[in-house]
Order: sequence, then structure tokens, then C-alpha cells
Amino acid sequence: MDLKVVILAAGKGTRMHSRLPKVLQPLAQRPLLHHVISTARQMNAAEVISVIGHGAQQVRDAFADESGLCWCMQEEQLGTGHAVKQALDWVSDDDCVLILYGDVPLISAATLNNLVEAVDDQHPLSLLTLVLDDAEGYGRIVRDDDGCVLEIVEQKDASEAQKQIREINTGIMAVRGHSLIEWLGRLRNDNAQGEFYLTDIIAMAVADGFLVKTSSPKLELEVLGVNNKIQLQQLERLYQQQCATQLMQRGVTLIDAARIDIRGEVSVGMDVEIDVNVVLSGEVKLADGVKVGANCVLHNVSIGANSAVQPFSHLEDCSIGEQASVGPYARLRPGTQLGDQVRIGNFVETKKAIIGAGSKVNHLSYVGDTIMGESCNIGAGTITCNYDGVNKHQTHIGDRVFVGSDTQLIAPIRIGDDAMIGAGSTLTKDAPAQALTLSRAKQLTLKGWQKPSKDE
Ligand code: UD1
Ligand code: CA
Repeated sequence: MDLKVVILAAGKGTRMHSRLPKVLQPLAQRPLLHHVISTARQMNAAEVISVIGHGAQQVRDAFADESGLCWCMQEEQLGTGHAVKQALDWVSDDDCVLILYGDVPLISAATLNNLVEAVDDQHPLSLLTLVLDDAEGYGRIVRDDDGCVLEIVEQKDASEAQKQIREINTGIMAVRGHSLIEWLGRLRNDNAQGEFYLTDIIAMAVADGFLVKTSSPKLELEVLGVNNKIQLQQLERLYQQQCATQLMQRGVTLIDAARIDIRGEVSVGMDVEIDVNVVLSGEVKLADGVKVGANCVLHNVSIGANSAVQPFSHLEDCSIGEQASVGPYARLRPGTQLGDQVRIGNFVETKKAIIGAGSKVNHLSYVGDTIMGESCNIGAGTITCNYDGVNKHQTHIGDRVFVGSDTQLIAPIRIGDDAMIGAGSTLTKDAPAQALTLSRAKQLTLKGWQKPSKDE
């Protein structure tokens, strides 16, 4: 039995008031649909089929980099049953078809595995339901006196008595391919909304003599849908709470679990500490004992054991060794690689800079397109002038180099090992190893100079 996941994603999302189709609205910086697809992949689905309609091209483009996705068009949104029907080209009799929704992003693989495992030859349909205090708007699960599921009635088709039922249809179900194909063929749209309801297949299963199995999600948030920006924001917060909880379960100290945002994958060692208002996005790796100060943004960053990022630092696409210190107010741009025990201080910007172990750039500097050796000391206000207006050029700095403050190194340029550069220099040529190099106008003091006085 192959698992085929069908994701309904054709709806417009009118209430978003957005040019972006609903399933592309971001949760933790990734499209809603991305979350559903990645859960489907976690379940090792043989095929992931998204049914798209509104903004179809935009949706496909957003996933252009992902391979192994099937797309099918639902030109007109004639109902959830009609939507699933569009995907039947990818479904064969022996499959188990799991139906998910592009706007229900937090469904977990654990809940879905339970649902799918309930499907077998005797039980071709398994349904995810939930008991709510307020069931308004949802399809209701109608059961007989023995508690067996009979049918689902939509809110708009429900009698007053049925509206009292608090067990709702989450919409998520798993169905044997053979049965799904047959039942969808029999759907009619003679109901209050004139739609082909997927939910009508439940009564068909019962009429065919099958017992419909039900299960519930572990958490209610798993089945929450997104229709407007308010729900989107609420779900974002719930998702962030979940991420923060998971980090703490893995041993991270969070100063305030409500003031951290995770927008990607974070891996952590032991004794990691994260202060308030930190945003971690992309792929972030924090080894044992790493400390991240308040108000830092880290995107695709890997940090070695016992290193610290001080407050207000911005790090993107870079790696940091062990026992290093960065910031406060540092900006590490893409391609920065810091060795062990490197120190980057306040108002320092780096880009494509490989900085060897123990080197220090402590104040107000720009280090770009640079390869620096070990144990260097780069004085305040040092700038690698890497751009001539057309091309970028490399700066090579050897080991144990001392660069005096307010120096410009005009690339391409090489500074040899153990060189010392005098403060205030503008170097246009290579500086040899083990020598003092400086470029400086001679200092003058004019004798007999007098302070100007007011004209009479
Ligand atoms: C559906 C269920 C209802 C359930 C509820 C849970 C049906 C008939 N009803 O109702 O029992 O309680 O979900 O939220 O299934 N879609 C398409 N193409 C269509 C119609 C819908 O892709 O032609 C997509 C929508 O974009 C949306 C999802 O399917 O993401 C659900 O459709 P919607 O019309 O919102 O269903 P509900 O009326 O909420
Ligand atoms: Ca509807």
C-alpha cells in the first residue's frame, strides 16, 4: 500500500486581502503549503500531489526548486470532493490516500501516522475528528446510538439538533484508493452550497457496510486553519511557542520563551543560552555552551562550542569557531568564517572574510574579501578597500600581523607574517613579513604661528 498525499490548495483566500495566494502566506517565513509538504515528506509519501487553482502559477513557482512534487489544476472550485477528484490520475486502487489542506499547516506526522495506520481492507476510511466547545462553522460527525459514525453534515445543511454536536470534521482523512475512486464517482452537489462535498463519502462508506474509524490530533493547533491575517498571526505565535518549548526540552535556556523566533531549523548542543528578541532563521547550529545575546538575528549560521554572540549583532551565512566572541553590534555578512577564539568587536563588518584562530578585529572596521591568518590584531577603523568601482579584490594578511588603527589596505594586497603596519597608513603595495611598514605624511609644527584674531 503506497501512501499518496493529496493537498487541497486551490482556494483563493479572499479574506487575506493579499496578492499572494493563501497557501503562500508565510508561517515562520515559509509558505503555509511548505509546512504541509514537509510533513508529507516526513511520512515518506510515495507521491505528494497538490491541487491548485487560484494563483496556480505563483504557487508552482514558489516551489520550483523542490523536486518530486505533483501539481494538478482545479480550474473551478466546485467543492472539496471535486478538488480531490482532480488528483485521481495519481491514485491507484492499492494506495492509501491521505487528504490534507494547504491552509492547515501544523498537522503533525505522528497524528497522521495514527490516521493512516487505521486504514486496511476492512476499514477503507479513517477520519480525523475533534471535540470542540464551539463547533460553529464545521462539518459535524453524526454517530448512531452505538457510537459508530454515520455521516458528516455540513453546518449549512445541518438540522438544529445536528448543530448541537460538538465533534467536528477536521477535513483530514485517509482513504483506500479503490474506495475513494468509486465514492468520488458517485458524488452529487444537491446540497445547500451546490458543491461536491468530500464529506459525503463517509455516508457512502457506511452504506457499503464499512466501519469508519476515527482518531484525534494530539494538539488542537494541529488542525487549525488559516483564513485571515489574524488567524495567521495567532498560528505563528502558537508555532513559535512550540519551537521554544522544543528548544527548552533539548536543554536550551531561554530567558523568555515568548521572545524568540525560529524560522527554520535549529540544532543545539548542551547548555546553550539565548537572551530575548533573538531571531534564528534558515539553518542554525549552536554547539555546547553557546550564548546568544539580546536582539540578535542569525541566518544560516554555525557557531562552535562556548562562543558568544553579544547583543544587537546580525550574522548571515557564516561559521564561527569555538570560544569566539562576536559583537555587540557586529555585522557578519555571507562568507565570513571565524576560527577559534577570534574576537570581532563593535561596529565591525565582515564579508567573505576568513579569519584565523585568535585574531582580533575589535572596533569599527570593514574586513571584506580577506584571508587573515592567526593571532592578528587589527586596529580600530581598519578598512580593506576591496572595491575599485568595477571589480572586487582580495586582501591577504599573514599570521601575527599587527595593523595600526585607521589604516586602509587597498586590495589586491598582501601583508606578510609578523608585519606591523603603522597607524593611519594607506597601503597600496604589499607589506613584507617581519617589517614595519607605514605610509604617513611627515608631521609638521609651524614656528611663529599665531591664532587668528578678529578684524578691527
Ligand atoms: C470543510 C469540510 C468540513 C470541515 C472543514 C474543516 C467539506 C465539504 N467540508 O469545510 O466538514 O469541518 O473543512 O475546516 O469538505 N478547496 C479546494 N477546492 C475546492 C474547495 C475547497 O481546493 O473546490 C480547499 C480550500 O482552498 C480549503 C479547503 O479545501 O483550503 C477547505 O475548503 P472550504 O471550502 O474552506 O471547506 P469548509 O467549508 O471549511
Ligand atoms: Ca465551503
